Amino acid sequence: MAFTGRGVGRCEGRVIFVAGGVPGDQVRARITKRKRSYAEAEIVAIEQPSPDRIVAPCRHFDICGGCSFQNVPYERQLEYKRQFVYDALLRIGGEPEPPVREIVPCANHFFYRNKMEFSFLPVESGPPRLGLHVRGEWSKIFDIEECLLQSDTSNRIVAATRELVHSLGIPAYHISEHHGFIRFLVIREDKKSGRILLNLVTAKGEHPGLEQLVASLTQRFPLICQVWRTVNSSLANVAAGESEELIWKSGDFWETIGQDRFLVTPSTFLQTNSEQTETLYSQVARLGSFDSDNAVLDLYSGCGTISHFISRLVNSVLGVEINENAVSMARQNAILNGVTNCDFETADVAVHLKALKQSDRYFDRVVIDPPRAGAGNKVVRRLARLKPPVVVYVSCNPSTLARDIEQFRLYGYKLVQTVPVDMFPHTYHVESVNRLELA
Ligand SMILES: C[S@@+](CC[C@H](N)C(=O)[O-])C[C@H]1O[C@@H](n2cnc3c(N)ncnc32)[C@H](O)[C@@H]1O
Repeated sequence: MAFTGRGVGRCEGRVIFVAGGVPGDQVRARITKRKRSYAEAEIVAIEQPSPDRIVAPCRHFDICGGCSFQNVPYERQLEYKRQFVYDALLRIGGEPEPPVREIVPCANHFFYRNKMEFSFLPVESGPPRLGLHVRGEWSKIFDIEECLLQSDTSNRIVAATRELVHSLGIPAYHISEHHGFIRFLVIREDKKSGRILLNLVTAKGEHPGLEQLVASLTQRFPLICQVWRTVNSSLANVAAGESEELIWKSGDFWETIGQDRFLVTPSTFLQTNSEQTETLYSQVARLGSFDSDNAVLDLYSGCGTISHFISRLVNSVLGVEINENAVSMARQNAILNGVTNCDFETADVAVHLKALKQSDRYFDRVVIDPPRAGAGNKVVRRLARLKPPVVVYVSCNPSTLARDIEQFRLYGYKLVQTVPVDMFPHTYHVESVNRLELA
């Protein structure tokens, strides 16, 4: 199984990545892309199914791009994921014996997501499409009837929004032709309280139906406590934009992680599986072996979730985060959570590390949790200059983690333990917590 969730096959000595292929399958496949050293293919017929194959529980499994592993048992998914981390550290990271422990499983295999983004697409007649991307097709959307990763209420909100947008005559945005108004429906859901935040992502301008849409949805679904509007007037097909505005509110919206509450806005980064986030951060706390007199630097701190989680174990935490909104939330959340030993800086990590070196700041521990692209050479170099004895690297991408680990080694840091954590059952994504020590 390859990291992207495709089966690795062989034909006439050539490696072929087969979409939907499961290790152990014998398939007839059609080549869709040919490269010098490998090819990509799609299944035409399964001649001999793998003994690992099971029937995927989701009715959309065959077309949805979301869950690629629903057709294998959960235990097998965990094995694949641990192997992804191990292989990346071995092959990309140059670790001869990657110190990868057992993967920490996720207790809830379904309905674990706290946030989902659904895309609109206009059709000739009738309600627009509102759902997820067809597997491998950036411009095709299929109607979601029931997604097993969010709640039943969320599925009902999607269905109601689709009908209301149609009856109110709100034009759906066309992803490739770039016309229309409403682009995405984003649903955030706090699993502890059931409260819901909606974000309607639209093009620029106004549409008279929008107000009625909000009124009808909030009336029909009393768990909705906030509705936001994000304007994205760019061609980029993303559920984010140049402005976000709270357009309806009946109360606060927060997520709960451990003993802390986090007020969030639509653009605030938050791990999408809140329950398992607690498990992830417990591993951060364990691998950090924090002491009550430690000064900790939390890089890429988002809305302060890790900082707050570890704040009770250490003397002080400085969080560094580029998103101004997230930093403002981190500060507000500190008051909410009674956290008094955390400071937050709005800054680019690379730039701020330079400033910290110039002011001769010392940190006993550094926690680093970069986006999928990883930290990169500049950040690793500047971080290493601060010489923290221990770095805890939280990664959502084994490939960029491995690349960064190789860099850390150049500056004297040894990877001593890696703990993969499954945050996203049925997808190929895998998180890991890594402890590096300065030799
Ligand atoms: C994977 S998230 C981690 C957030 C947080 N640690 C958590 O567990 O929720 C990465 C964060 O890095 C921030 N970010 C991305 N590029 C950055 C940069 N160059 N400097 C500072 N923060 C950055 C993003 O806004 C996002 O909040």
